[in-house]
Amino acid sequence: MGDPDVLAAEPQRAGDAARGWEALVNEGYVGCGAPRALYDRFAGGTPAGWRLPGRTGRSADLPYFANAYTTPSGVEVVTANCLGCHASFLRGELVIGLGDASADFTMDVTPMIAAGAFLPADPAQKAELDKLLGRVKALAPHIRTRTVGANPADHIAAVLFAHRDRETLAWSDAPLIELPTEEPIPVDVPAWWLLKKKAAMFHTGAGRGDQARIMMTASVLCVDDVASARAVDAYFPDIRAFILTLEPPPFPAPIDATVAARGKVVFERRCSRCHGTYGEDGHYETRVVPLAKVGTDPLLAEHAGQFSAPFRTWFNGSFYGEVARLEPHDGYVAPPLDGVWATAPYFHNGSVPTLAALLDSSLRRARYVIGRGRDAYDLDAVGWQTWDADASPGIDPRWVYDASAPGYSNAGHTFGDTLSAEDRRALLEYLKGI
Ligand code: HEC
Ligand code: HEC
Repeated sequence: MGDPDVLAAEPQRAGDAARGWEALVNEGYVGCGAPRALYDRFAGGTPAGWRLPGRTGRSADLPYFANAYTTPSGVEVVTANCLGCHASFLRGELVIGLGDASADFTMDVTPMIAAGAFLPADPAQKAELDKLLGRVKALAPHIRTRTVGANPADHIAAVLFAHRDRETLAWSDAPLIELPTEEPIPVDVPAWWLLKKKAAMFHTGAGRGDQARIMMTASVLCVDDVASARAVDAYFPDIRAFILTLEPPPFPAPIDATVAARGKVVFERRCSRCHGTYGEDGHYETRVVPLAKVGTDPLLAEHAGQFSAPFRTWFNGSFYGEVARLEPHDGYVAPPLDGVWATAPYFHNGSVPTLAALLDSSLRRARYVIGRGRDAYDLDAVGWQTWDADASPGIDPRWVYDASAPGYSNAGHTFGDTLSAEDRRALLEYLKGI
């Protein structure tokens, strides 16, 4: 069997959590955006539930996933922030730090880019718009996923690295590294509240060294020189400090304490050696479990997207690599399970919709229709409601999760299969509350 690797924590820069929140929802770390004047004309209003409570200033009336700021050329723009992927609605409430598992990356945005180029704007606004559209155009052919909810973030990073000079970060319209040819690997967005326990970032444990520097890689979209990147980096320790303050939402229904206590015993016997223990004196270590042992989809652990050699080399030799490293492993980190009830779908590729199916692989369907998201959460099976795709003729294929597609396998991690039905039920009850 061989012992799984335990990754050691590395020194991190300290930060101020309150300042981090302000920066997260106000600053322009992505480096470009749509001119505010055009945004206000064409985007329509923000639904009330999409505003961030307590946000003041010029971003106050924007959706939670957008920030307004003024570019060096003096144009006010609306730009994406981290919460587009790292916040999500759960049973009707926006949860900051919950990965968005409903984002739609299946669309062809080429017609929108073409239409955008004809929007009326003054020359300074036009220059900002063209910059944004240029980056989207470079990305568009490489980041289209086959299923709604699959996140192509690792391919986004790879494509953006490829268009930049490693020394100066200057943008090049032509890629300087050969682009990935495979379709984007689906990656599930981890919950931010787990980061405080982890010695390494990412499902493969590839994010090593200074975590704030790795997070600010979002600036690789439009921050085009090292001095500007350094200015963004200066406040990212604050953003990291904010992320470390997050706690998971509590399970919203009664938990049977007697059954859960029995489940705890099962957990500590069958699961703790990889996932640690929970409760007052809980103990977690960041363990990479070799692919052969966990058996989940191999693609990401075989170093696809930003983790393949040319992109890793780019990162490690760039400004980003000064204090951080991409160092993937041939396996997946057994993640901390705090608030796991809320984080369906499960595994690094989001291939398993419920904890019930995670604990019993015979319940995993080959092709299923993904449900209406986390507003219709199933608190018994714990996770997403799904339907058999073959019993749903005429369904839009973008809503069908097909576990036979490359990167989408829902096999492996069969550690719950040999449990008795009673033990499994007890374990599920226990998992609701950790
Ligand atoms: C396009 C969607 C997207 C955006 C935007 C995004 N992220 Fe992520 N983030 C992801 C995905 C997907 C992963 C997991 C990648 C992996 O493990 O291979 C991730 C991983 C992380 C992790 C590691 C979590 C862990 O437990 O390993 C942190 C921290 C993080 N992101 C912070 C940020 C910050 C801060 C920003 C904004 C500056 C940001 N992200 C913007 C999609 C996104
Ligand atoms: C040999 C190590 C190992 C054992 C034993 C193990 N796991 Fe895991 N577990 C992992 C790894 C590695 C992953 C990540 C797999 C992936 O993302 O592809 C994982 C993922 C999970 C996830 C999904 C987390 C998420 O947010 O996607 C849950 C839930 C989980 N395990 C629960 C359990 C339970 C319950 C047991 C005991 C029956 C158990 N595991 C036993 C290694 C292990």
